[in-house]
Amino acid sequence: MNICCIGAGYVGGPTMAMIALKCPEHRVTVVDINEKRIAAWNSNELPVYEPGLDEVVSEARGRNLFFSTDVNGSIAEADMIFISVNTPTKSYGVGAGRAADLKFIERCARQIAEVAKGNIIVVEKSTLPVRTAESIRRILEGCGGEFTFQVLSNPEFLAEGTAVPDLLNPDRVLIGGEQTPEGDEAAKTLADVYAKWVPRERILTTNVWSSELSKLTANAFLAQRVSSINAISALCEATEANVDEVARAIGTDSRIGPKFLKSSVGFGGSCFQKDILNLVYLCEHFGLPEVAAYWEQVIIMNDYQKSRFVRRLVRTLFNTVSGKKIAILGFAFKKDTNDTRESPAIYVCRDLLEEQAEVHIFDPKVKASQVFADLQQDALNGNGEPNPNIIIEEDVYAACENAHAVAILTEWDRFRDLDWQRIYDNMLKPAFVFDGRNILDAPALRKMGFEVYGIGR
Ligand code: NAD
Ligand code: UDX
Repeated sequence: MNICCIGAGYVGGPTMAMIALKCPEHRVTVVDINEKRIAAWNSNELPVYEPGLDEVVSEARGRNLFFSTDVNGSIAEADMIFISVNTPTKSYGVGAGRAADLKFIERCARQIAEVAKGNIIVVEKSTLPVRTAESIRRILEGCGGEFTFQVLSNPEFLAEGTAVPDLLNPDRVLIGGEQTPEGDEAAKTLADVYAKWVPRERILTTNVWSSELSKLTANAFLAQRVSSINAISALCEATEANVDEVARAIGTDSRIGPKFLKSSVGFGGSCFQKDILNLVYLCEHFGLPEVAAYWEQVIIMNDYQKSRFVRRLVRTLFNTVSGKKIAILGFAFKKDTNDTRESPAIYVCRDLLEEQAEVHIFDPKVKASQVFADLQQDALNGNGEPNPNIIIEEDVYAACENAHAVAILTEWDRFRDLDWQRIYDNMLKPAFVFDGRNILDAPALRKMGFEVYGIGR
């Protein structure tokens, strides 16, 4: 088959690289309108940092994996077309701040309608509101093109930072299709692609709407666990209970399980908030305000967790951080990724800048230009000049030198192994550490003289 994937982002790139690696008999072309991104996929510095991804791409690229800006050309040749474009929260008009913005999806559908040929399978890879396949179907049907088609839903469950192992060994692959002989045939064709490396029993098929809704539901359940343990972390801080001990105690209950119970400065990433807001919007749209309010609370709790972290820091630093150097260790939304979308570090830095602190930011994978873009208006002072209170550090020890406090905002492994004695010796005293990921050995740091504040302990 000729497989085309529209969208060469964090999902399209790694997913298609894995399909190409495992299915040398198929030709896979990933297309994007973003020329810089495609150039990066064709270079030695991939636009997405994921452990193990370089090896997968270098084995398949040029053999049966291609990255191109020729969107129409690739669609015209394709038997199977994945849509893996971004579906951000709408920022304008009806549903602003909640609904998914589907303009990129509609653009893809219209582009397919214009140039596709033959018998094609269109696969929704992006995370979409339930019933989006219906809109795609109507656009394809209405165009009078020279093709027949089926629309499948095949949401992606990989997490960033572990994309390669997640793709190699998924808990399940979900395929939603129309329940007709043609729909079943299309679902089987897609299942055969994954079956090259995924055991058949892990390939689930459902109707299209269940598949679309399962993706939103999975993310809502995962985020809900993080907000639930974060809610308990606030109570732990008030009562001297230890949230990590509570998580361990409840996580051993096989009905609860140990995953996604790590209390933190708040969840980030491009998916959780966007997908829950989308779910909330759908519930409101279908006249279910109680259900909408239930899920919205997950977001409210996450916002509370992020702002609570800064308030605690400011309160501890004698109620002012104005003019004080604060070292920010980690800017990505989790370890092992260069992605900063919705990273809690953005919100923490903004609040600290608002308090007139000087933030010295170190992250091993995030570029300075990305940090400035994320801090947007805060990156400039009133005169349109760079804000002198934002300093990007290349060296983690320089970031901490003469700092009043260090805040850990991403759980990069290397932060655990730093020479903390050296950091202590070069900091102002009292030397405060705010561990927003509970990764440090707090008793050992306290012995050195640090004042350590974790989450929920
Ligand atoms: P992304 O922003 O990294 O990539 C999307 C790409 O699509 C961009 O490079 C953009 O230029 C391109 N694009 C948009 N419109 C286009 C068009 N008409 N033609 C060609 N290219 C176009 O997004 P992502 O993180 O890869 O997410 C993609 C989808 O997958 C979203 O719906 C997201 O919710 C879902 N998802 C993401 C993750 C994740 O971990 N990031 C996991 C599961 C699902
Ligand atoms: C998530 C889903 O896990 C994945 O299945 C979906 O396809 C995309 O969205 P991702 O956002 O890449 O993946 O990472 P994830 O590991 O889920 O972490 C999301 C956020 O929650 C991160 O900021 C992480 O630090 C935080 N988190 C996660 C916690 O604070 N505690 C936890 O126990 C787990």
